[in-house]
Parts: sequence; structure tokens; C-alpha cells
Amino acid sequence: PTVLLLNGPNLNLLGTRDPEQYGTTTLAEVEERVTALGRELGVEVVCAQTNSEGGMVDRIHAARHYAGVVMNPGAYAHYSIALRDAVDAIEAPVVEVHISNVYAREEFRHTSVTAPVAAGYVAGCGVLGYELGLRAALARAAERSS
Ligand code: DQA
Repeated sequence: PTVLLLNGPNLNLLGTRDPEQYGTTTLAEVEERVTALGRELGVEVVCAQTNSEGGMVDRIHAARHYAGVVMNPGAYAHYSIALRDAVDAIEAPVVEVHISNVYAREEFRHTSVTAPVAAGYVAGCGVLGYELGLRAALARAAERSS
């Protein structure tokens, strides 16, 4: 089985961007950790990052036959109906991850338009959330196929 690890806008700057909120782990390190966990669990992890909304929609479509998707939509979570519709359109379970505790931050981060159609939601656990997200996506996929 294959799982897509998809990171959205500004997450290419992980490690140096606002370390108070997001820590000092880089995106490359996150991708390594999730790939290693995938190997342990017997799944291939395909990693992608894009700063564009359409790019995220395309990646979601391309993952429609995967076992699952672990996605940090970045700020698109707060307003992208296009991304929400893409998540809603595919069979594969999509788990939404936010590194920071968005509920402890500005009010505009308290809304996620993608969360209602996600198979799971993790926030405020730091970059560990990606590993939790992978486990959750696989658990959801197993539920669906049983
Ligand atoms: C984020 C939270 C978003 O509000 C923000 O726009 C991001 C990162 C997080 O991982 O905590 O880019 O998704």
C-alpha cells in the first residue's frame, strides 16, 4: 500500500519558519521520519509539498487510489473550498495535520473547511502529528476495507 504525505504552503520552510510555533525539525526530516515509520508498518510513503492550491488539488486527485493521505493544508485549511471538495471527492481517507495548536492562536485559524470531510484531525502535537496521522490514515483504511 501507498500513502501520500502532502504538505501545503510555507511548509517547505519548516525548521526555520516561526520555530516557536512549528519547532526546528525540517520538512526533509519530517519526510524521513514518516517514510521510516511507513517502512516499519509495510507501506510506501510518497512525499510532496506545494505552495499552490491547485497543486494540492492535483496531488489529492492523484492519490485517489492510495491507501490514504496525510495532509497538512497550511493556511488553505482555513478557506479553500476547492481543497475541501478534492478531499471529499476521493475514496482514500485523508487525515488532516496541523503542527501547532491552531485553537490557541488567532481566531481565523480556528476554522477548518477541510476538517469536516477529513477522516481524522490532529493538531497541536508538533511534528509528531505526522506520524500519528500516518497511523490514523492506515487505521481508517483498514476499517473501510473490513
Ligand atoms: C499550520 C497552521 C496554519 O494555520 C498555518 O497557516 C500553517 C501551518 C500548522 O501546521 O500548524 O501554515 O497548518
